[in-house]
Amino acid sequence: MTRIGTPLSAGATRVLFLGAGELGKEVAIELQRLGVEVVACDRYASAPAMQVAHRAHAFDMTDADALRSVVERERPHLIVPEIEAIATDELAAIERDGLAQVVPTARATQLTMNREGIRRLAAEELGLMTSAFGFASDGEALAQEAARISYPVFVKPVMSSSGKGQSFVHDASEIASAWDHALAAGRGGEARVIVEGAVDFDFEITLLTVRHAQGTAFCAPIGHRQEAGDYVESWQPQEMTEAALAEARRIASAVTDALGGWGVFGVELFVKGDDVWFSEVSPRPHDTGLVTLSSQEQSEFALHARAILGLPVDVTLLRPAASAVIYGGMAAEGVAYGGIDAALSIPGSQLRLFGKPIAYEKRRMGVAVAHGRDVNEARERARASAGAVKVRAP
Ligand SMILES: Nc1ncnc2c1ncn2[C@@H]1O[C@H](COP(=O)(O)OP(=O)(O)OP(=O)(O)O)[C@@H](O)[C@H]1O
Ligand SMILES: [Mg+2]
Repeated sequence: MTRIGTPLSAGATRVLFLGAGELGKEVAIELQRLGVEVVACDRYASAPAMQVAHRAHAFDMTDADALRSVVERERPHLIVPEIEAIATDELAAIERDGLAQVVPTARATQLTMNREGIRRLAAEELGLMTSAFGFASDGEALAQEAARISYPVFVKPVMSSSGKGQSFVHDASEIASAWDHALAAGRGGEARVIVEGAVDFDFEITLLTVRHAQGTAFCAPIGHRQEAGDYVESWQPQEMTEAALAEARRIASAVTDALGGWGVFGVELFVKGDDVWFSEVSPRPHDTGLVTLSSQEQSEFALHARAILGLPVDVTLLRPAASAVIYGGMAAEGVAYGGIDAALSIPGSQLRLFGKPIAYEKRRMGVAVAHGRDVNEARERARASAGAVKVRAP
């Protein structure tokens, strides 16, 4: 039975976020609504979730000692990793020492922060269909692997997200630049890449999968469009065949059961007809799932908050909806947003402006979400609403 104490009292239920971006901000708001004490951490001050937290800490979360010391000071019941670039081995030690419970599990954060860990688990241990793949730790091995898999291929640092360091490589002449690009962007100091054969899919989806106290629940599939490895637009539901949906759920069950724990997982899948490929998984709410702020009875953020506390969840889809990303479009500190009235005059629209202190050209600063009679109308509305917002220099 879940009990929740009074925030800022000795009996408080405390949740500490590692990563305080826009997704964490929405989860923090949901936890605040339930009277949970929220602590937000990130590498910089005034990050989005810090602005809705009881306390905040800015420090290097890949620094194991710094991480341990914040956890010892805050004594959270739950630690919610919101990004991948954290000292996950220290999280495992914290969990082992019984200091706090890591969401969904420390092992899940370790496996998913590295593309090699999760890909080997999915393809080799669970036998799921994925793109052809290989790994390389220098340019020569990369060329060999790419030739073995056969061009075109995707090259990605094993540790990176949001398309950073990724290349689509057409032939051997592009290998050297792909290696350099990956090396420059990969984090964790490891010079290692995954090479993936290009999957010729009809569309790609995120299947939000909730592991909760009573079992596993699936949200309706979310379709999305990526540009340079970063999502620009998403919608729910994505139509697909019954066979493909059943296979998508089977894959999502297998992967999330293997990772364990409670919470929302974003299972990324490629679909062609009845065929489904596993791509990757986030052990946390997914950026493409921002659409659920409008489409679902409980958004992915509400679902995550409930699931991690051991509370009941409801994944009911209410109506078709879509989301469209608002970019910084410039590098500046303390930008202002104009056109909000025009954006919100679009029927069925909502905005989230994340309040990030610094903008840059391709930084996600906000999102427009809209519902409609069908997915097409919702997409048009979300795009129009996002397009109406004008980021201005301060
Ligand atoms: N093997 C592949 N075949 C076809 N398309 C691919 C492949 N790998 C990646 N892509 C395309 O590139 C996008 C980004 O790839 P991936 O999800 O691996 O990167 P990421 O950096 O983890 O991105 P994010 O953090 O935004 O999820 C995919 O959503 C898909 O559109
Ligand atoms: Mg992805």
